Amino acid sequence: MRPHGPRALASRREKPSRPVRVLLRRMIDYLGKFRRIVALGAVLSIAGTAIAVFDPLILRWGIDNVFSTARDFRVLLFLVELYIIFKLSSWLLRGANTWVLSGAQAGFVRAVQVDVYDHLVRADLSYHKSEQSGNVTSRVTTDTVALGVGIQVMIDFASQALMLVASFIMLWITSAYVALASLVVVPGVIFITVLFGTVGQRIMLASQRAYGQVSGQIAENLAGIHVAKAFNREEELAGALMRLNQKAYKYGFRFMMLMSAMQPLVRSMGQFAVAAVLFVGGTMAVGATPVMTVGEIFLGVVLLGRFMWPLLSLSMMATQVQSSLAAMDRISDVLEAKRAISDREGAVPLRPDSDGITFDHVTFWYREGTEVLKDVSFTVRPGETVALVGHTGAGKTTIAALINRFYDPQKGRILIGDQDLRDITLESLHGAVALVPQEPYLFDGTILENIRYGRESATDEEVIRLCKMIGADEFIEVLADGYHTMVVENGKNLSAGQRQMIAIARTMLADPRILVLDEATSRLDAYSEALVQDAQAKLFADRTTVVIAHRLTTVANASRILVFQEGRLVEQGTQDELLAQGGVYKALYDTYYAHQGVEEITVERLRRAEEVVAEESVPAQAGALGPGPVHGSIDGHPSGAAGPAMRMMEDMSPDTLRRLLDERGHMMPSHVRQTLEERLRKHDSD
Ligand code: UTP
Ligand code: MG
Repeated sequence: MRPHGPRALASRREKPSRPVRVLLRRMIDYLGKFRRIVALGAVLSIAGTAIAVFDPLILRWGIDNVFSTARDFRVLLFLVELYIIFKLSSWLLRGANTWVLSGAQAGFVRAVQVDVYDHLVRADLSYHKSEQSGNVTSRVTTDTVALGVGIQVMIDFASQALMLVASFIMLWITSAYVALASLVVVPGVIFITVLFGTVGQRIMLASQRAYGQVSGQIAENLAGIHVAKAFNREEELAGALMRLNQKAYKYGFRFMMLMSAMQPLVRSMGQFAVAAVLFVGGTMAVGATPVMTVGEIFLGVVLLGRFMWPLLSLSMMATQVQSSLAAMDRISDVLEAKRAISDREGAVPLRPDSDGITFDHVTFWYREGTEVLKDVSFTVRPGETVALVGHTGAGKTTIAALINRFYDPQKGRILIGDQDLRDITLESLHGAVALVPQEPYLFDGTILENIRYGRESATDEEVIRLCKMIGADEFIEVLADGYHTMVVENGKNLSAGQRQMIAIARTMLADPRILVLDEATSRLDAYSEALVQDAQAKLFADRTTVVIAHRLTTVANASRILVFQEGRLVEQGTQDELLAQGGVYKALYDTYYAHQGVEEITVERLRRAEEVVAEESVPAQAGALGPGPVHGSIDGHPSGAAGPAMRMMEDMSPDTLRRLLDERGHMMPSHVRQTLEERLRKHDSD
């Protein structure tokens, strides 16, 4: 049965792997960074091997001494002492070797991790968009560790091979016949190698993959848990997970079975070899003219042990090396991923006087063949606020991304002032342009830290003042830890509107020269939105601003509107011009905005206005009742007589004002009515 859920849809395309030569080269290159420590390990390892190969010789001399007619106790004592010294130094050498090489291995893993992570951070956004983030994570975590194991095995391989060759030579010197007899195990070793290299490896890889799927599925189930609950699919998800788990268990079990079958196989093979050596050696040691001593037979048996283990472990290493080559292959995907845009040679900082944005015949696509922007040209003059509107998928967010140079257009150019983005250093560009993205991201950390991300040098007071200004202070203050409340995993413990407010505060704090707002206030209620717009008007009044919005209230504040349709700029002008034109914007206006109803919005605004005005008038009367609401004036930024409420009414047309007064005038507090009437009078007299 196919695994359940969206994961099943995204069947992964297996990429052809790189040649082993290339992968080995890469691994050795990494290891090259630890040249000295590896060399030290090699020296220790050679010394250890030499001792391990020679110490049976002492035993042989001892035994021969005991069995000889010229028995000498002092020689025996000397040999015993020598043996102890050999053993002790072998122990010390092996300890030092393990210590050195584990250090090298840990350093190696860390070096690869840093490198892979570095490449990931610098990789083009398109790489991240094309990869599941779980997969990307495992490139840095599990794959690098697998690579480390492979490296360990390779280092081990060298010392095992050394041991193998040295003990065989020793065996040969002792007795060529015994050495030949020990080769009786070779067919067995070949059998084990083949078994392990084919069946064993297949099972091992299958089990690794199954376990990977299980953890991927768990992560995905948890990420989508609210959707699953909403559609009553929890049991189905659990079922799917159980099936995957069962599969992983099956392969895991088979692998364990294979491993446990190996143990007796390997042991009996050793015993076969011992039997063969005893037989051959024994035959030669007895008879009229013995050609072997008891000591030599003993030496043969011990050396056999030294020789067998490397042989068998070498045969099993192939599998481990293969799995770490596979890891190296996956890591290479990251290392070779297209680099994100970086400064071209001779890039210069954005000049302080460069302002305004120009798109000059820009054509752009994410994937070859589907143009997302088609020959788009427009200019946003310095200090101007321009709104981008268009249906979902029209390319608005793409334009925001291009202004930030997350991508370069394939055709045409984008300028700030008269400087092509491609000639400007990214650092200066990102210092001057700030974006509130459509889907803001919050980091793990406190709210304060998240806002301060916009400008590290900002003081707590500055952050709080800004939050008061955009109306974020109210909700932050009532959180358990206020500004020090921890944000969990992209702010899932906050409301969507609250997340947006934090993102807005972060961007405004950065105090950019050019502001790009991509649906920045889409999740705020009308009142909060008005506060944010108020703050924006105060802080960024004369700055170049690009606003992307579906809401009329946001669009209406712009001096010009650019209308996009399927990647083309189809209309531009003021709201009135576009409505008069009766084209795409008019249609958008009628379909998108009609249901919001201009009247409805203004009535809603008026209701809010009444509330705020009423509130604002309280402190004046109550005096000592404590600090009034913050909206009236913000430290250092007196807003004049009118708070946002009054401002809300400022941009109402005289017709709307008149109608509101007619319809709702009798319900208004007198000072609100007076203000409106005064404005109307003033307008009529103009
Ligand atoms: P946009 O993301 O620019 O559309 O995608 P938009 O106008 O902002 O839409 P809304 O209003 O937020 O919904 C434009 C086109 O580019 C494709 C999308 O599929 C869409 O057709 N696209 C976007 C990609 O192919 N890759 C991406 O990474 C992003
Ligand atoms: Mg968008």
